[in-house]
Amino acid sequence: MIKAVILIGGPMKGTRFRPLSLELPKPLFPIGGFPVVYHHIEACKKIPDLKEIILIGFYQSSEHLSKFIMSAQQEFNIPIRYLQEFQPLGTAGGLYHFRDQISMGNPEAFVVLNADIMGDYPLREFVEFHKQHIGEHSILATEANRRQAHNFGCLVEDSDTHKVLHYVEKPETFVSEVINCGIYIFSPAALFKLMGEVLQKNYQKMSTEPFAANVESIRMGEDVLANLASSGTLNAFKTRAFWTSIKSAGSAIYANRNVLSLYHKTHPDLLAQNGKDQPHIIGDVYIHPSAVVHPTAVLGPNVSVGSNVVIGAGARVRETILLDGAELKDHCCILYSIIGWNCSIGVWSRVEGSRCDPNPNEEFAKPDGESLFGNNGKLTPSITILGRNVTIPGEVIVLNSIVLPHKDLSQSYKNEIIL
Ligand code: GDD
Repeated sequence: MIKAVILIGGPMKGTRFRPLSLELPKPLFPIGGFPVVYHHIEACKKIPDLKEIILIGFYQSSEHLSKFIMSAQQEFNIPIRYLQEFQPLGTAGGLYHFRDQISMGNPEAFVVLNADIMGDYPLREFVEFHKQHIGEHSILATEANRRQAHNFGCLVEDSDTHKVLHYVEKPETFVSEVINCGIYIFSPAALFKLMGEVLQKNYQKMSTEPFAANVESIRMGEDVLANLASSGTLNAFKTRAFWTSIKSAGSAIYANRNVLSLYHKTHPDLLAQNGKDQPHIIGDVYIHPSAVVHPTAVLGPNVSVGSNVVIGAGARVRETILLDGAELKDHCCILYSIIGWNCSIGVWSRVEGSRCDPNPNEEFAKPDGESLFGNNGKLTPSITILGRNVTIPGEVIVLNSIVLPHKDLSQSYKNEIIL
């Protein structure tokens, strides 16, 4: 029997996702029309003999989260629980804190997924691989390029045995182009024994450094994976399938495009089609059944339209996520943007951001996940983001800007954060 745990973090995480993560836990942000963790749950459901999915994080339990869990339980017909850490316990401390819950029923292994990733996870094949390493641990790995690898955990494996020989979390100098995808399979007894030893060390440190960081905090990379690699019990399963981390809002547009493209294989029924009295669809577009789109609007490629969105005549939308309740008035144009919940865009207005894609000329490139400001102190050109309930009047242009929630704009803006 196998269980799955999804690490959803908490309110202090997702800072590069603001202002959207101020309104909604980042793991519930919709990509391809469905919350990020919904895709994780759907992927986990494909694991044979999966008994339970546990979400661990430090978000206060909210109506939004509970409703999501209730409906996902019903839809996927699997028990799903949320376990809340009393304080942030780090990327692995929650697993140890809730070890009794995870070990209940004696699973021979449990899968752990970071919530802030998206991909075409080969979980079934990964579990098959792990079966050859029962009692040990497995890590899903992919390739990055030399320039970007240091943003991730990097590992060196023995190419014959797949044993991880060396693991370094976000190394300062080059270690390897093989990176940690944030998905693992652990053998419970061996993992919790190691974590117990880490905590012992933390307690000992506390006697010499009374202000040392939270003693119950355990870091997945430095405290767990690096130790497992040096004890020779970590095995790497490499994938070349689509995988990305979702750090900045810009990477959400990239993830949205790839998830929509995966729907051709997994859910062709979710992709909008051209038809009589239907809007003109170009490429991959998801439209929630409750959205009302004028037949003269042109959508796509790579657009997700949330529930109760209204799109007027002649509107043009490309490479964009429209969140629930947004209203696009006639002839507006939206490109490379995320339009927040209940925003209103006036007639003939243009909202446009910059493409934040991985460099197509670099093999295995990933989105850069840049911070808001560059070294020169200027706003890094990125997608345009409108927070909840922003009103844009008619005939203005909003370019490469971030607009905080509940703003009524009265003019055009370029490269600004509008507070
Ligand atoms: N429950 C809980 N409690 N979850 C947490 C906490 C915490 O205190 N802190 C972080 N997390 C969750 C985040 O929500 C995310 O899903 C995951 O742990 C990773 O957290 P980050 O701190 O954002 O790590 P990272 O994304 O920079 O790097 C990790 O993921 C990369 C792949 O995306 C590392 O594991 C890298 O090695 C890896 O390459």
